[in-house]
Amino acid sequence: MESNRIALVTGASRGIGAATARILAARGDHVIVNYREKRRRAQDLADEIAASGGSASIAGADLSDEAAARALVRDIVDRAGRLDVLVLNASGGLERGAAADYAMSINRDAQLRLVRLLLPHMPEGARIVFVTSHQAHFHGRKPVPADYEPIAASKRAGEDALRELIPEFDSRRIGFTVVSGDMIDGTIIVRLLERRDPDAVAARTEHGALPTVEEFATAVADATIGDHALGHTVYIGGADYLTHS
Ligand SMILES: NC(=O)c1ccc[n+]([C@@H]2O[C@H](COP(=O)([O-])OP(=O)(O)OC[C@H]3O[C@@H](n4cnc5c(N)ncnc54)[C@H](OP(=O)(O)O)[C@@H]3O)[C@@H](O)[C@H]2O)c1
Repeated sequence: MESNRIALVTGASRGIGAATARILAARGDHVIVNYREKRRRAQDLADEIAASGGSASIAGADLSDEAAARALVRDIVDRAGRLDVLVLNASGGLERGAAADYAMSINRDAQLRLVRLLLPHMPEGARIVFVTSHQAHFHGRKPVPADYEPIAASKRAGEDALRELIPEFDSRRIGFTVVSGDMIDGTIIVRLLERRDPDAVAARTEHGALPTVEEFATAVADATIGDHALGHTVYIGGADYLTHS
């Protein structure tokens, strides 16, 4: 196993990002826990990782804000000199009061900008993992609950924009993997959706138990070491998506 890699997990103050950060740190990476506003939560996670023998630091940045993203990259380069693993996990659009164009701003534009800013600091062999949902990955091919439509469309646009960079990833010898999951059991997004649109969640659970956060985060962490072809997609849960796509 590789050790002492510098890994940035975006949106790691809670949920799948936090679980991924824990796994990467337990496997020996130094994990940079990015958060937007929940500094205390990010610091608690970094402290928890340190207490169990791992290495982590926190880095606040609203990635939809270009200046904040640039400052984040400068900070990583100043502190670590390079980045070996980038997990693009942060996502948004369901927040109460979010502007109409926010989903595209965070799920497409911010992802692409962060990758472009970091690429010059990622050595050969570095890895990028884009975290997405089946409802986004299969957008346009499978129905999506109305509330989730802008998120699905923008995350799919983000994935497409990143896939356009595959020739550049190739020439730089940088890995790129997409990890797509069904609704993940117990997450805040699914609980929110369940409150607004219970049938949408029931429609997924009728295919069987939803994957757990641990299961999905393990797949994301594994994608930073697996020997995948450039642009490979790893699917977690939702077998019905795969058989009828
Ligand atoms: N939940 C699911 O069922 C599910 C299923 C499949 C795929 N996924 C994917 O898994 C990923 C994580 O989902 P999740 O449910 O764990 O998310 P979540 O609980 O909503 O957590 C979002 C994280 O992203 C951060 N964040 C939000 N906006 C940000 C911004 N503008 N800049 C930087 N950080 C930002 C939040 O930080 P603060 O707390 O500081 O605001 C938080 O740490 C997403 O890409 C999602 O599409 C989720």
